[in-house]
Amino acid sequence: MATFEKQQCWSVLLRLFHWMFALSIVFLVVTGFYINNPWSNTMIEGSASFPMAMMRYIHFIAAYTFSGAVLIRSFLYIFGNAQEKVIDVLPITKRNINNLIVTLLQYCYISDKHDERLGHNILAGLTYLFTFFVAITMICSGFFMLFPEIPFWQGWGLMLFGSQQSARFLHHILMWWFMIFVVIHIYLCIWNDVKSPEGVISSIFTGVKFTHKS
Ligand code: HEM
Ligand code: HEM
Repeated sequence: MATFEKQQCWSVLLRLFHWMFALSIVFLVVTGFYINNPWSNTMIEGSASFPMAMMRYIHFIAAYTFSGAVLIRSFLYIFGNAQEKVIDVLPITKRNINNLIVTLLQYCYISDKHDERLGHNILAGLTYLFTFFVAITMICSGFFMLFPEIPFWQGWGLMLFGSQQSARFLHHILMWWFMIFVVIHIYLCIWNDVKSPEGVISSIFTGVKFTHKS
């Protein structure tokens, strides 16, 4: 019988980031769809109630939560624990490159081998890093749309996106990354939990993972 030992993996700050990020995205996607194509009866808009203003208000509250989460993650990529630092997920060491290959082979059902490591596997880590950069693009395009007259956002916004309309287009297209990501993310978390009993799902609540006792 395999024996496992409990190991501290994720700090409170990382778990706070995760749930701020995950929850705010749900609100951002729903209200974002409404801003794009209001599905309520717009005849009542501005009379009995003001659904568009309410949806935009929720979008912006969620946007500030989302931006706070991204700030926390930026801090952890530099000052977090060993599993949280950006260096841990880059394929720049022999061990990390090997982990990337083994994970790809396992996900493609070509091999059953599983490379146990405390932090994210490299494929997951790189995807999270990419998502982090997409999140920064959402923040820049969002604040550019929100504050087009403020010199800081105007300067950066025009330089990065060219116009309000192209910022809005990119903001919309990138929303689909988050929707596709969430589906694959939750599927793979469950898949990993079934395949290797390391307690990956509970780790994002408790911060603890289980590894084989050597
Ligand atoms: C994952 C994060 C986010 C998602 C999925 C998202 C989604 C969307 C979508 C779909 C729209 C409608 C665009 C269209 O008309 O097609 C929108 C509009 C907008 N979003 Fe976001 N958004 C996110 C983050 C942010 C952030 C961080 C900000 C920062 C303030 C922001 C500010 C705005 C603004 C200002 C608008 C335009 C509102 C208007 O025209 O009335 N969004 N968002
Ligand atoms: C029921 C919902 C969810 C569960 C059970 C869940 C579970 C997990 C778990 C177990 C991890 C760590 C996996 C690993 O070690 O590779 C993780 C990481 C992560 N999840 Fe989720 N997740 C959920 C929803 C979401 C949503 C909605 C998002 C945002 C779109 C999200 C974004 C992330 C990100 C960015 C990370 C990486 C954390 C880091 O930067 O280190 N998750 N999640």
